[in-house]
Amino acid sequence: MIRKYTFGTPIPTDAVVLSLPAETDPVPFFTLSQSGKQMTLTRKLSPEDCLFGLGESVRGINKRGFLYRSWNSDVFNHTESTESLYSSHNFLVFFGPESCFGIYLDDPGRITWDLGYTQTDTAVITSENGDLDLYVLEEDSLTELARAFRRLTGRSYLPPRWAFGYIQSRWGYASEQEVRTVAGEHRKHGIPLDGVCLDIDYMDNFKNFTWRKDAFPDLNRFSADMKKEHIRLIPIIDAGIKEEPGYAPYDSGKAGGFFCKKEDGTDFTAAVWPGVCCFPDFMREDARRWFGSLYTPLLEAGVEGFWNDMNEPALFYTEERVQEAFRRAEELCGGNVDYEAMWGLKNAFNGIENNPEDYRSFFHSADGQPVRHDKVHNLYGASMTRATAEAFRRFDPDKRFLLFSRSSFIGAHRNGGIWQGDNFSWWSHLKMALQMLPNLNLCGFLFSGCDLGGFGCNVTEDLLARFLQLGVFMPLMRNHSALHTREQEIYRFSSLDIMRDTVRVRYALLPFLYSEFMKAALTNGMYFRPLAFDYPEDRRAVHTEDQIMLGEGCMIAPVLEQNAVGRHVYLPEDMLMIRFRSPEDYDLIPLDRGDHWIDLSLREFPLFVKKDHPVLLCPGGESTELLDDHIFTAVCRTDREVTYDLYRDDGSDPDPVLSQHLTKAVLPADAACSSAVPGVAISSLVL
Ligand code: GLC
Repeated sequence: MIRKYTFGTPIPTDAVVLSLPAETDPVPFFTLSQSGKQMTLTRKLSPEDCLFGLGESVRGINKRGFLYRSWNSDVFNHTESTESLYSSHNFLVFFGPESCFGIYLDDPGRITWDLGYTQTDTAVITSENGDLDLYVLEEDSLTELARAFRRLTGRSYLPPRWAFGYIQSRWGYASEQEVRTVAGEHRKHGIPLDGVCLDIDYMDNFKNFTWRKDAFPDLNRFSADMKKEHIRLIPIIDAGIKEEPGYAPYDSGKAGGFFCKKEDGTDFTAAVWPGVCCFPDFMREDARRWFGSLYTPLLEAGVEGFWNDMNEPALFYTEERVQEAFRRAEELCGGNVDYEAMWGLKNAFNGIENNPEDYRSFFHSADGQPVRHDKVHNLYGASMTRATAEAFRRFDPDKRFLLFSRSSFIGAHRNGGIWQGDNFSWWSHLKMALQMLPNLNLCGFLFSGCDLGGFGCNVTEDLLARFLQLGVFMPLMRNHSALHTREQEIYRFSSLDIMRDTVRVRYALLPFLYSEFMKAALTNGMYFRPLAFDYPEDRRAVHTEDQIMLGEGCMIAPVLEQNAVGRHVYLPEDMLMIRFRSPEDYDLIPLDRGDHWIDLSLREFPLFVKKDHPVLLCPGGESTELLDDHIFTAVCRTDREVTYDLYRDDGSDPDPVLSQHLTKAVLPADAACSSAVPGVAISSLVL
């Protein structure tokens, strides 16, 4: 059951697809209070209550015990104390002995989620805008709650099948030759590869929709050559358009009046990578259409995937903030600077970037009415994603394109995926990536991943290996790193063979993982889930923070610590462990419900599978296009005949019908009897 409550005059966000009448009775489950415009929901928590949701946010799978803020932020240096990340996903589920319900605040402004932080037994949720639609969802189970939320907000984005391949990326690939070398090294070393991202270095002075003709002379030819190798180029596009008369996107944006304005009607400007930029008003349909049209030359050059970045939007500085800091410095110059003044000075310079004052200083136009940016701040990245997705649909309505964005809001999950932003090469960020995945799925973002190996800092070889082992199961499997950090392409390391085999396992599992993903997406289900969804009665499972469910019957439990030679795993039921070393070399070990220590050397990683749930492995290949998804080895812990519905489509149809693409894989009963591992069926299948 979904109930809607309207407060004030909400600004349309495009997050919800279901039209419901607003209720007039009091909001259930919460005490409601209003102070000025602010609206606050308060609820006592029982000791056993768990809170799931909030998609992209730091800390645990269970969000209880911290204070989070919905305020999309460019936070390069985020840690577990960071209250806001790049996206705001305002869906939270309360699950406990007395509760199984969710709330969604369709509000693009600032929201504070004090989830047992100020008082451990109380959740206090405050909307600063106070103009919002509040949805209360009530179902019998967590799984049904997730489904109901997707009914409310629409089907998750479907990427093309090639996007499930391995993608190599690095900020700093500065020429066509360099990209060709990176791709060539992957092929030379037998590391499967489906895409290479082009970061801002491909652009002419970091200007969107341009490219450096000296370093990338012929994009059409380059893209075509790479495609012959079954490798796609995936260029980055940033939100800001450089303010530079004579630069075509600026000129057309200016002529159309498509940029966000200051109160005096002039264009708002702030610096990002190319210098001072204007910011498209993505809330306007005509501005989205104009911005989307700028992708056309790249699409015509054969590009089939993009990543949208800096769309919180990130503001490096505005002229006002810089002047203010200089003024402060001049005032103090030559004087005896005391402690307080020194901090004031430091803060003035630190505060130049992403300053709240700047976010209050410009306006959008919603149905012709000016809306101050901070009221709708969290919509910006989602609206950019919408502009891009709309452009794809206009360019080729019969095809799926790859799109992932840094910033997002609920609703963007229909148009693209997201990556988790600028993580670091830290073990703690490996764990954070794992913990974020189920909550992203709960909020509809099935196609997601993190920068494997970590974006900032220097990666260590073992950390990259362990990141990749988690990446095997992430829909978006991208290795990405920052300029000036240690180069982290797999082939640069002495344990290249270990990492190559890890990526090869991904390709062997790819038809199966793709099948699991598509089935989840097309049934409004979840590809990753907290264990609580499958084992709501099992207290241990409900509170497990370092293992997650995958697809219909799998669970993953990656190694998350340096120098570990294994890890403890809790099995909520009898399962089969597949301990991978390569697609050809793996152990099949039936394990009973309970606690287990699992030996996992650096080259090993496990997949746990429920009884009677087959896993299918294909022979693999160097790209998704070269995979043979007709021949499989199927493994399953069972003592009877079992079947698996393998989802296969052309990998490109934007609106596939689930039932039309299922092939029944049957593992005969005798496969279980004749197997070398008692209780485990191993069967070769041709489908
Ligand atoms: C931002 C992005 C990062 C990218 C960099 C340069 O930090 O998050 O992925 O590499 O900008 O474009």
